[in-house]
Amino acid sequence: MTQILSGREAADALLGTLSEQVSQLDPKLVVVQVGDDPASASYIKQKMKSCEKVGMRHEHKHLPADTTREQLFSLIEQLNADPDVTGFIVQLPLPDHLQPLVPQVIRAIDPKKDVDGFGAYNLGKVLLSREFEHLPPATPSGIIALMEHYKIDPAGKHVVVVGRSNIVGKPIALMLLNRDATVTVCHSRTPDLGVITRQADILIAAVGKPKLITADMVKDGVVVIDVGMSRTKDGLTGDVDFAGVEPKASAITPVPGGVGPMTVAGLLRNCVRAKERQKEQD
Ligand code: GUN
Repeated sequence: MTQILSGREAADALLGTLSEQVSQLDPKLVVVQVGDDPASASYIKQKMKSCEKVGMRHEHKHLPADTTREQLFSLIEQLNADPDVTGFIVQLPLPDHLQPLVPQVIRAIDPKKDVDGFGAYNLGKVLLSREFEHLPPATPSGIIALMEHYKIDPAGKHVVVVGRSNIVGKPIALMLLNRDATVTVCHSRTPDLGVITRQADILIAAVGKPKLITADMVKDGVVVIDVGMSRTKDGLTGDVDFAGVEPKASAITPVPGGVGPMTVAGLLRNCVRAKERQKEQD
């Protein structure tokens, strides 16, 4: 029997552990949205809903699509300076005229308030060791929490990560290395992907290509974590051909209801951690 790794269940458990700290520390999360990307609207709704669930103060700042760079950077400065704001994120993607500025936007966010964990300071700490993973990016941190919830220990396992993005592939590879896994990272220039993915004890797919991973590309008993979430004519589709791969897997995440809710839980946990650290430095 294949175990379904429910992100909804694991996220509820993680959020449950946060509520007490939230009521003691009273952190506040701000989500900045520019424009009306439909996927962003749905992600933000999930984030706000989870804040309500744990009693975390939250604010959704929704700016129009024609917001100028000056207006966006001025808001970031304001949020950096506001002592009542514990952490904030700028939801991506930005409208076309601002999208090339994403690296500068990320750099402009105070590392102490960078609860997405996208900036060089917080990513750099992930490189050092597990003890320095203070504000890790929310998706990899959610994947680790999901594995912990289901008692999947990566130590000594061969983990194959497909995808090398700065926000999922690279940091999850480092975080698993920090937990004694043997890690292989594959990407769009990897020849014969299947030769590598078939060696995986744990396979993490994070490329955004619907159904890229097919049954012939995995070995029996593999644990599959699907980070992909593409909108196709069949609805939300992961990077893994679930129907084909599930019978061979010992455990697998569904899409939706797998990694997605864990990302939100990881973000809220970062907000609590940010507040803890800010209080220590008061
Ligand atoms: N767009 C899709 N996922 C994310 C996320 O985790 N953070 C931000 N800022 N934008 C996103």
